[in-house]
Amino acid sequence: MSDKPVCVSDFEHRAKRILPKAIFDYYFSGADQQESLAENIAAFKRWRLLPRVLKDVSQVDMSTTVLGQSVSMPVCVAPTAMQRMAHPEGEIATAKACVSAATGMMLSSWATSTIEEVAEAAPGGVHWMQLYIYKDRALTQSLVRRAEEAGYKGIFVTVDTPYLGKRRDDVRNRFKLPSHLRMANFETPDLAFSSKEGYGEDSGLAVYVAQAIDPTLKWEDIAWLKRITSLPVVVKGVLRADDAREALKHGVDGILVSNHGARQLDCVPATIDALPEIVEAVGGRAEVYLDGGVRTGTDVLKALALGAKAVFIGRPILWGLACEGEEGVSDVLELLREELHLSLALTGCRSLEEINRTILRRSEQISR
Ligand code: FNR
Repeated sequence: MSDKPVCVSDFEHRAKRILPKAIFDYYFSGADQQESLAENIAAFKRWRLLPRVLKDVSQVDMSTTVLGQSVSMPVCVAPTAMQRMAHPEGEIATAKACVSAATGMMLSSWATSTIEEVAEAAPGGVHWMQLYIYKDRALTQSLVRRAEEAGYKGIFVTVDTPYLGKRRDDVRNRFKLPSHLRMANFETPDLAFSSKEGYGEDSGLAVYVAQAIDPTLKWEDIAWLKRITSLPVVVKGVLRADDAREALKHGVDGILVSNHGARQLDCVPATIDALPEIVEAVGGRAEVYLDGGVRTGTDVLKALALGAKAVFIGRPILWGLACEGEEGVSDVLELLREELHLSLALTGCRSLEEINRTILRRSEQISR
């Protein structure tokens, strides 16, 4: 029997065998009791697909745009911190795989490769910058400036992390970066999460966030960000319609419906359940994306049918990276591409424009 992975969870199981426990735990964990972590996956299963038949699906076009940038499919890469823990090439491998797949990659502020290294290693790629707003605003502004100069196409500002969620295994493991690695975008050991002093009895990352990230963040800061950059700005981490409306008032170009992979507040809804009311509130005035729990082509299709312009995937990329570096990330992206292609064809959709709510039913509506 072939042991080639045939689905994302095959990659996850293999990565679990390969990675040191504390690293797998950091990548895998959700907050607290991990209720939302399970819910992000389970909620997709409560939607059923109603295929349209006899539609000549010999050609299926999955291309689209995200913030005006062309991508070959509506599946892009979410920012996950510290990718060199998964593989020596880390974010560089991910960026190269994204160029091969002709899709976009969002780079974490907390990457173990610099903004410039990623741009140089993957020329022609669609890169977006995920921004944490630091207490030090000059430092924050310099991250934005560097992204602009390196040709990044948008800023995704994370708004759900005034403090780090409590990830129990990271507390138990006293999680910190292996000593040969650092958050590469920063100069000082404190900011690079490579302090020799250590981080005490807590998750090192929780201590880092409490020290460096600005918990006073408010809507006016989004207006500030809009003022200091000419790039499009997307808020990452919105779960409510009223927050989505507020974001529009502050001039954002897009909204990423996200619960941070269930790593911040536990007991929040699955993102796929939060999506419809946000799409309705936004009413086409900005692009709406989703991340959280996307593991199959049918998950992507369901998110698009509920109004997402594209989805972002976090952990599956880390599993591919851990298994086989750039090739592993490529394999995960191609696997999702094939699954989405098949799902579209089998529901009678020849392009993303042909996806709409009529292909979806809540599963309880069907069983009634
Ligand atoms: C994240 N996420 C994240 N988000 C962000 O804005 N900045 C970051 O540095 C990170 N880092 C990070 C590390 C790891 C290990 C994970 C799993 C997640 C959240 C990420 O961008 C995205 O919202 C979720 O990962 C999406 O959920 P799935 O696809 O992992 O279920």
